[in-house]
Amino acid sequence: MDKYEYFTGIPEVGIVPRAPHAGPLLRHVYEQEHGRGGFSGKVSHTYHLYPPNNWLPDETRQLPAGAFAPDWDSPMQPLGGIHHALEVMAPTAPRDVYRGMARLVANATAAMNVTAPRLSMDYFFEHHSATLVYFIHRGGGTLETTFGPVAYRAGDFLVVPKGITHRFELAAGSQYYWVYESLTGDPEKAEAPTTGQFIPHSRSDYRFPRSLDTRNEAGRFEIVSKVGGAYTRRVHPTHPFDVVGWRGTYLPYRLAVEDVRPLVADRSHVPPSGHTVFILPGCYLCVFTVRSVEKEGMWVPFFHKNLDYVETIGYHAGEFFSRGGVFRAGMVSVHPVGLPHGPHPPALSAFLDGRRPETFDEVGIMADFATPAEISELALRLSRPDYMASWAAYASDPRFRFAETRLREVRHLADRLAQERDGLRPIPPDHERGQ
Ligand SMILES: [Fe+2]
Repeated sequence: MDKYEYFTGIPEVGIVPRAPHAGPLLRHVYEQEHGRGGFSGKVSHTYHLYPPNNWLPDETRQLPAGAFAPDWDSPMQPLGGIHHALEVMAPTAPRDVYRGMARLVANATAAMNVTAPRLSMDYFFEHHSATLVYFIHRGGGTLETTFGPVAYRAGDFLVVPKGITHRFELAAGSQYYWVYESLTGDPEKAEAPTTGQFIPHSRSDYRFPRSLDTRNEAGRFEIVSKVGGAYTRRVHPTHPFDVVGWRGTYLPYRLAVEDVRPLVADRSHVPPSGHTVFILPGCYLCVFTVRSVEKEGMWVPFFHKNLDYVETIGYHAGEFFSRGGVFRAGMVSVHPVGLPHGPHPPALSAFLDGRRPETFDEVGIMADFATPAEISELALRLSRPDYMASWAAYASDPRFRFAETRLREVRHLADRLAQERDGLRPIPPDHERGQ
C-alpha cells in the first residue's frame, strides 16, 4: 500500500490490469478494446468474466428490412422552402426506445429522431454507425451500459458512444426523447478561446458512470446492432454486463441542462452560435435556456437567413417568447436553409414597444444540420399546415404594412436618433460632458 493516494492519467473503475494489454490479470479476465479512429483515437478497455464474442452459433440473424424500427427508416425528401412546425409525435403502438425511433431530419453525417417509448427494452442495443446524443424532453430511467448505469431524468443529455452495448430501463410515466445521431465522429464540447472552457458549460458537468453493476448470469441475452438500415440480432449465453473493471476515456455520460450557464450580453445580442454546447460533424447543438434578457441590445432574435444550415429547435420547457405562442412543449420547428425567419409578430411588437421582460423563461434545444439536409415523410405528417401563416401579421397589421409615409418617417427618426448612445457606456471625460 502506498503512503499517499494518487490519480492515474486515465479514468478507471473496478478491477483493471496495471496497464492496457499488460500484466498477469489478463490470463484471468478478458480484455476488450473499444477503439475509435482505427485504434488511434479515443479508446477504452473493459475487462470481462467471459469472452465478448461468445455468441451462440446459428443464432445470429439479419432482421427483415423495415421490421425492427420502421419509422427510423422513414423515406427522406428534399426540404424545400417552407418552414415546418412539427406536432408532438403520438405513437400508434407501445414500443421501446429503439423500435419506436422515428427519423425527422438528416444530412450525410448527422440526423435527428424522436422516440416516445412506453416499454423497457428486453434486449441490448449497439449502434455501429453513430454516436447517439439523447435529450430527455420528458420521463427518466436508467441507461444501463457496459461501463455501468447512468440514471437520467427530464432535461438531461445522454451521450451513448458508437458501439457501446446498452439498454434503457424506463421509470414510470410518459417518456419523450429527441435523439441525434453523429455518423462520422463524436460530439465535441463547444468552447471559444475568447470565453474559456467553462462557458457555456464545463467538463466537470459531465457525469460518467462509476458504479459497476457486474452481472455473472447465464441465459439468453439478445443484442441488436444497427449499421445504416440493417439490423442484426445475436444471442450470448452470458450477460453482456459481465465487466469487472474498465479504463479509458471513450465513455457514455450525462449532462444536465441546468448546468448549462449561458453567455449573456447587456449591450448586444448573443447569436445562436454563442449558445452552442456540442459540435458534431455537419451539425451543432445549442441550448437556449433560462437567462437574463439583454438590457440595451436587441433582445429578440434578429431576422436571419441561415445560408448553410437547416435549423431545428425542440421546445422543452417555458414560454418560448420569441415564437409568439405558436409552440407548445414537445414540438419541433424546422427552418430550411436560406428562408428568412425571426421573431413572431407579437414578440417583435413587444420589443418595439419596449415591453422588456427581466428573464427568458425557456429551454429549447437547437440542432442545425449542414446542407444538403432532408426531411422525412413521417415529419411531414407531423407538420402543421398553418405554420407559415403564423407570421401573417407582418403582411396585415397596420404597424408592419406598407405606408406611403414610411420612408420619410424613417429618415426623420434616423436624424433624431443619430447621437443616441448606450446608457451603460463608460463615463465620458469631464471635457466631453454636457456636449
Ligand atoms: Fe433561426
